[in-house]
Amino acid sequence: MAITRRKFCHLAASSYLAIPLISQAHGRNDDNHSKIDAYPFKHGIASGDPLNNRIILWTRITSPHQEHERIAVKWMIASDPEMETVVADGIVITNADRDYTVKVDPRGLQPGTTYYYKFHALGYESPLGRTKTLPVGDVERLRIAFTSCSNYPYGYFNVYGLIARRRDLDVVLHLGDYIYEYANGVYGDGTAINRIPEPVHETVTLNDYRQRYAKYRTDANLQAAHRQHAFITVWDDHEFANNAWSGGAQNHNPELGEGDWKTRKAAAIKAYLEWMPIRQVDAEHPTRIYRKFQFGNLIDLLMLDTRIYGRDKQPASPDDSATINDPNRSIMGAEQESWLYEQLSDSSARGTRWRFIGQQVMFGQLHTFGKPFNVDQWDGYAANRQRVLDYIDNQAIDNTVILAGDIHSSWAMDISANPYNPNTYDALTGAGSQAVEFVTPPVSSPGIEDPVKAAQMAAFVRSQNPHMKFVELNKRGYVLLDITHERTQAEWYFAETIKTPSLNESFVTAFKTLAGTNCLLQAEGASQPIPVDDEYFNQDENETTEKENTADLRGYHERSSSSSLLTP
Ligand SMILES: [Fe+2]
Repeated sequence: MAITRRKFCHLAASSYLAIPLISQAHGRNDDNHSKIDAYPFKHGIASGDPLNNRIILWTRITSPHQEHERIAVKWMIASDPEMETVVADGIVITNADRDYTVKVDPRGLQPGTTYYYKFHALGYESPLGRTKTLPVGDVERLRIAFTSCSNYPYGYFNVYGLIARRRDLDVVLHLGDYIYEYANGVYGDGTAINRIPEPVHETVTLNDYRQRYAKYRTDANLQAAHRQHAFITVWDDHEFANNAWSGGAQNHNPELGEGDWKTRKAAAIKAYLEWMPIRQVDAEHPTRIYRKFQFGNLIDLLMLDTRIYGRDKQPASPDDSATINDPNRSIMGAEQESWLYEQLSDSSARGTRWRFIGQQVMFGQLHTFGKPFNVDQWDGYAANRQRVLDYIDNQAIDNTVILAGDIHSSWAMDISANPYNPNTYDALTGAGSQAVEFVTPPVSSPGIEDPVKAAQMAAFVRSQNPHMKFVELNKRGYVLLDITHERTQAEWYFAETIKTPSLNESFVTAFKTLAGTNCLLQAEGASQPIPVDDEYFNQDENETTEKENTADLRGYHERSSSSSLLTP
């Protein structure tokens, strides 16, 4: 039932009074520093995992006295940015057990609809968020941005600012490496640009991982991206430790006092589920994040976990072809693999136009001198990849689009069982291609930093890999997917720099796959932004700015004097 804001205020005030709070009065005085200290939404707000009638809303409460507190948080979601027509609201309690994070999953929303949401806690009001449910039925067109690999000390999160600035996205995908586990200086030193991660040492314990997410979420561009778009995320290795697999990681070292892997993995998973706007698929099994999203009759998006859930250990080297081709090894585990096949068949049988597979690491072959270049990606699990391709082939599943990140560079390629044999794959016509893959550049992690060497390496890689249509190894950015029933087009947008705050970007190239062809063509150019007329964007506090590395207090400054909504 929709209620007006007037009624909401009344309900909110009365129900709030009924909840015993240990500390409620602190933080509202005339001293500006105290006000900033008391502002409880220092880590922003977020939404995620949209379905056609539900969406996760997220925030986190910071209070100067929160050690012992249970904190009541009011949430509300409305169909208008003025929050006049509230469609769902409630109060939840958060506490130290969940690091004062807040996650609600309101139901009963309308499909394909833009909503607005906010939180109230400790007498303060959060910024206003914007989000969107998934559509049902006939869907003509969708726009999805995806990116990965955001390393806080390595540089500014300008790419998140660019994503936030786009108004025409239905959802944003983050394919992993949302945080990096390293100590400052090991893989990026944030000292010179005042982007030192917390804790300053490598994350190992639950408290470490929580602090790391908290520090990342103080980034204004990241907060803006979350505030303005729903995210669908999966973890990769650095949410745990470098080159993780189900039973360990290259960068997990018990001999250095890092304890056992099981404990560390559980800590990393708990912090991820607390801090990310993700819906836990199975309450009994927090390790499972593979899940499905249906965008009407246009796309089924299957999000995989090729990192933690069922991945066997990486081969020792690219020369270890016995391990690489061992049919008993898996990158995803048998359960997830069966699920994937069921979903592909079900999607195809329902007549959904496109099957997108969102996952962590490059699926297609990347060989140099006839050998895999990186056995941490699907090239190290060739038998598993072959099973997926056999299934697509045997079941005659068309229009599979694979999305990947992890490799800090940009790629577009045809996917076939053996792209190196001209009898099975024709690079000129795309004959023999069974699917296509697009790989996003990173938000800030490094590829090949010397642009001349990067260009030389890209040319060399293309000369060795005929199925690669686009390779760029130097730039940061994101990929925009523009999807219709006729074609899926991927467009690469690169940030000008990560060395200074900047929202300059350039469109670089676009590739498309026409429905039914299962191979790539160069596209004519960028699709035009779709105009979005939304009052939300006319409110100053919701616009992205170049402010960096500080909590977003704009909402607080403008509203604190009048935000008596939930003050008892
Ligand atoms: Fe990465």
